[in-house]
Amino acid sequence: MNALSAEDAVRFASTLLTEPGARVKSDITLPLHTDEHVVGVRKLVREHALALKLSLVEQTKLVTAASELARNTIKYGGGGMVLAQVIDSGMRQGLRLVFADDGPGIADITQALRDGYTSGGGMGLGLGGAKRLVDEFDIDSRSGEGTAVAIVKWKK
Ligand SMILES: Nc1ncnc2c1ncn2[C@@H]1O[C@H](COP(=O)(O)OP(=O)(O)OP(=O)(O)O)[C@@H](O)[C@H]1O
Ligand SMILES: [Mg+2]
Repeated sequence: MNALSAEDAVRFASTLLTEPGARVKSDITLPLHTDEHVVGVRKLVREHALALKLSLVEQTKLVTAASELARNTIKYGGGGMVLAQVIDSGMRQGLRLVFADDGPGIADITQALRDGYTSGGGMGLGLGGAKRLVDEFDIDSRSGEGTAVAIVKWKK
């Protein structure tokens, strides 16, 4: 297995981590290789969402988005990791999640985001669905190098 270290992933995802003014209040990384890891991510995200006092609906949206992206990291990226950061813009707090892998990358991001597009016999709803469930959504993907998908949910 081509293990991606937390440091590698953060470096890879660095273009997605530049949010001028947003202070990182906490930082945690979890591995993403197995179904159990997906369960772990769901739990972590739920805990953070609760701590941020997101409504039950917003908590569920965030957990659902995280779940979809975690599954993609494992299924298409060959595994990787997730970085979870509590961030503070000065005005509000939020949770940023970055899902990173060193898999094949996404050749056509527009196509991958289209509802119904799948290369793996799925429903093709994960990426587009995740995007609609969060406040910010970014993909950095390089052919043959890997993919990083960053999402942010703010406490409104
Ligand atoms: N981390 C990734 N690395 C490489 N390709 C990816 C990655 N994530 C998504 N993709 C590509 O984007 C496509 C669309 O992803 P999406 O999550 O929307 O659908 P799916 O996973 O195929 O199906 P579903 O999530 O509905 O079960 C995938 O089929 C795959 O080709
Ligand atoms: Mg998917």
